[in-house]
Amino acid sequence: MTPEQDPEQAALEQAVIAVWSDVLGRDDVGPADEFGELCGADLSTAVRVTTLLNQLLGTGLTVMKLFAEGTPRRLASTLGALGIAAPPLATRHRAADDAGGVQGYWETTYRFRNPHQQDRFNTAGWTDSTSLTSLPEKYMREWTECTVARVRGLEPRRVLDIGCGTGLILFRLAADCERYVGVDFSSVAVEQVRDALAAEHEYDHVDVVHADARQAARLTAETYDLVLLNSVVQYFPDTDYLAEVLTGAVRRLESGGTLLLGDIRDRHLHQAMRVEAAAGHDDTPVDLVRLAVEQSAASDSPLLLTPSELCRIAGTTGADLSCTPLVRRGSHPTEMNRFRYDVVLTLDDEPAPRPDTELRWHGQSLDQLLDSTGGSLVLRQVPDARNFPAVRLAEAVDAAPAGSTVGELRAGLRPVPSIDPEETWELGHRKEFGVAIGPSDVPGLVDVAFHRGHDDRATARLLARKCPQQSE
Ligand SMILES: C[S@@+](CC[C@H](N)C(=O)[O-])C[C@H]1O[C@@H](n2cnc3c(N)ncnc32)[C@H](O)[C@@H]1O
Repeated sequence: MTPEQDPEQAALEQAVIAVWSDVLGRDDVGPADEFGELCGADLSTAVRVTTLLNQLLGTGLTVMKLFAEGTPRRLASTLGALGIAAPPLATRHRAADDAGGVQGYWETTYRFRNPHQQDRFNTAGWTDSTSLTSLPEKYMREWTECTVARVRGLEPRRVLDIGCGTGLILFRLAADCERYVGVDFSSVAVEQVRDALAAEHEYDHVDVVHADARQAARLTAETYDLVLLNSVVQYFPDTDYLAEVLTGAVRRLESGGTLLLGDIRDRHLHQAMRVEAAAGHDDTPVDLVRLAVEQSAASDSPLLLTPSELCRIAGTTGADLSCTPLVRRGSHPTEMNRFRYDVVLTLDDEPAPRPDTELRWHGQSLDQLLDSTGGSLVLRQVPDARNFPAVRLAEAVDAAPAGSTVGELRAGLRPVPSIDPEETWELGHRKEFGVAIGPSDVPGLVDVAFHRGHDDRATARLLARKCPQQSE
């Protein structure tokens, strides 16, 4: 702190320096250092720093702004002028041991959590990948409730939660289970969850273990009726790693038990998500969109899987598993419910029932179809209103000649009838059907199942398929 610097300002400067030091893996960052020189103009480093500062300070900083302000001192001064307060940094932040790896990524993410968030609703790491800002709390609350409702629908009693993170699911579920084991390879997350649990006796049956996902199945000889991997698979290095985790998890699963793989990034929809984010206004040139898509692909490379690929990998465990892909629920249009999906793998499941009626959907009225359905109905290849337009735009961008604009491509896409999944659930339930909606094998198209009664879980069985058993 310089003699004339106000303490608020100095604290903000320290916060900026802490984030830069951690991401850059160096201890010698000073208030007058230029970011562009320190990071060598590396875009993915800039994205990471921007995201962490936004999370920690609750700001809406952009990568451009980060480069433009240049030094911690100037950035802190600009943030201070916007009324942004410095967060308390409890411990001295140091560069993560595995700064460039996924584990280091998560340690850093959790260290720079927003200090104003409650321990039991700590959404550190949940970021909009376009704006690089933390997802709004109301979106995250809906996302969490939808996820918990899906898990509860499986009626778990004994849960192994691999990659439990800050316990968003654990804190909402564990009290109603007889046993709950959370595992995560972030020591910061494990400590935070343990601290929050320690205060309460209702969690005596809960353990949180610091371990890699591949070790999770070897930690005890216990068995579970649910193994949960929610929003974790995308961080695995490759499909061999995933196969190893699944093989271990299946050994810990009771017959009839389920493995829920949540929030899987869909390879089919990933390009559409990127194109949509890059497309912007109608006058954006298509070449610019392609360039932006390339850049975003270079700075973010999650493990992407289609439902069929996941089903095939589950088959390599050698276990008798059925696979039911389901779209995510939620009315707020986040990238999680538009471009990702869940998969329920059931051990030793009965063969899937056949529906009374099965149709390709061409825009027929769902009202009328349901009114004439007595038992069960499956509609195949139905455009999903939440992502089908983005899929078509991505296809058009792919095929467009140089020099065209996004507006020209949009104008060339004729309207196609589609369904909104949330409205379809509502309609089905109102007419006393269970409803299940799963991604099909065609990008942007879903399969929709209805079954008389109110049982969504039983209805989802209409969309189940056996994983082709094979050993790798
Ligand atoms: C997006 S968070 C999801 C947390 C939690 N499952 C939820 O749904 O709120 C991903 C978590 O997975 C953990 N993780 C990622 N890869 C892992 C691995 N290979 N082994 C153990 N944990 C892992 C990260 O540390 C992080 O806490």
